[in-house]
Amino acid sequence: MTSLIRALSSSIGKKLLMSVTGLALCGFLVVHLSGNLLLYVGAAEYDAYAHALHAQKILLPIAETGLFLLFILHIALGLITAGENRAAREVKYDTQRSKVIDPSSKGAPNLASKLMVPTGLIVLMFLLIHLGHFKLGIISPGDDASEAAKAGRILSEGFTQVVYLIGTLVLGIHLFHGFQSAFQTMGLNHPKYTPLIKTFGFIFAVCIGLGFASFPAMGYLGRFKETETQTTENRAETPTSITQRK
Ligand code: HEM
Repeated sequence: MTSLIRALSSSIGKKLLMSVTGLALCGFLVVHLSGNLLLYVGAAEYDAYAHALHAQKILLPIAETGLFLLFILHIALGLITAGENRAAREVKYDTQRSKVIDPSSKGAPNLASKLMVPTGLIVLMFLLIHLGHFKLGIISPGDDASEAAKAGRILSEGFTQVVYLIGTLVLGIHLFHGFQSAFQTMGLNHPKYTPLIKTFGFIFAVCIGLGFASFPAMGYLGRFKETETQTTENRAETPTSITQRK
């Protein structure tokens, strides 16, 4: 047990754990996007999905706790390894400078990997606002008729559209490098498979980034105004109002 903890707290152990948690979060993104896409199918379909999810009184809290731990681990490890990498580069740079070697020749990270921490922090800021909207109900609370109406109302707001568009597109950039980098860290570096992983990573990042970004974009185009009012009208149509009409 202690040797496992020691292995995981080594530099490569932390990178490995970051890759595994990152890939698990990719799995969550696929499931989350698939559920959200039901908003395009119809308000009733989306509400049925949301109710089925919330009906899981035991599984849901377990999944949410696991998800929370994944996010915390991934973010903490990302910040720690970035700090360690910077410290290591500074030592290397000082050594190279003392030997009068061109410091830009080796070990400099490329643009994509340099962007991982800033893009990760932007996604984190988006996520905090997003949870404030949908989980905690502390940002833009409202008396919504249904889950679809709530999503429709929030996605129709200008503030949400700007924040969600930036957050989801930046998420795509984060995934673009993160996905293939995770496989490399796990040792999957092969002339035959690496190009395939890179291509798949690119397609994955584009689908997830644009898939999620489509919601604030459609909100801007007024797509969810209908969902919002439709479901509010449905609520007005209570059993009592239907009986009265008869
Ligand atoms: C932009 C389109 C998005 C929409 C419309 C959307 C919608 C929602 C909704 C309605 C919920 C509440 C689910 C519930 O009822 O429990 C939720 C939760 C959540 N969303 Fe999103 N989401 C979007 C993008 C994202 C992205 C890009 C991420 C990750 C980077 C994300 C991460 C989460 C997390 C972690 C939760 C809490 C899950 C839980 O604890 O149950 N969402 N989202």
